[in-house]
Amino acid sequence: MGISSSLFGICRIPDAQSEGSRMKTLAFGLAMAMGIGCLLPLAPAAADEPTGTDAIAERQDLMKSVGRATKAAGDMVKGAQPWDQAKAEEAMQTLIEAGTRFPSLFPEDSKTGHDTEAKAAIWDNFAEFEQISASLAEDAEAAKAAAANGLEAFQPAFGAAARNCRTCHEDFRESN
Ligand code: HEC
Repeated sequence: MGISSSLFGICRIPDAQSEGSRMKTLAFGLAMAMGIGCLLPLAPAAADEPTGTDAIAERQDLMKSVGRATKAAGDMVKGAQPWDQAKAEEAMQTLIEAGTRFPSLFPEDSKTGHDTEAKAAIWDNFAEFEQISASLAEDAEAAKAAAANGLEAFQPAFGAAARNCRTCHEDFRESN
């Protein structure tokens, strides 16, 4: 299915529900007005995002970097490493970027292969999965801001960000 036929399919919905020609005209006008909006979410996913095992490899690398950043921040919070504001901010930046990018790395053709630990539940409950990923980015943003006020301010904010790891892994990652 090409972009133009997907576009037509989505933009046609108001028309299908309408009654009478006045409504049809209105729906057509709406569809025209929404033209750009309908096109945008469809085009980049097809063109830019990795597919299949490339997507799996990329999301695993992303999670590995999240693991390293979380350990670096956790070590400072536990006192195993000295407090370093710049390091804390850098670690939270990694979590922000990962939380934002992660859900785009789960195309339909990446359910198996490359030793993936992704559960099928991801594709069945994608909105929830995306929501937890967005929470990770938001909470990491708050923790990054808190780092400016020192370790005591960073501790609880980092704790809130790190809770998203378990929340997501419990439902959406194998062997957890
Ligand atoms: C929105 C869901 C979600 C969140 C939030 C999340 N993870 Fe993950 N994580 C996953 C999934 C799914 C996988 C399995 C990916 C695969 O194998 O395809 C994974 C895999 C991993 C891996 C193994 C990577 C590898 O292949 O070696 C580590 C480490 C990890 N996560 C750490 C974390 C940490 C630390 C956090 C919190 C800061 C976190 N994750 C937050 C879903 C999430």
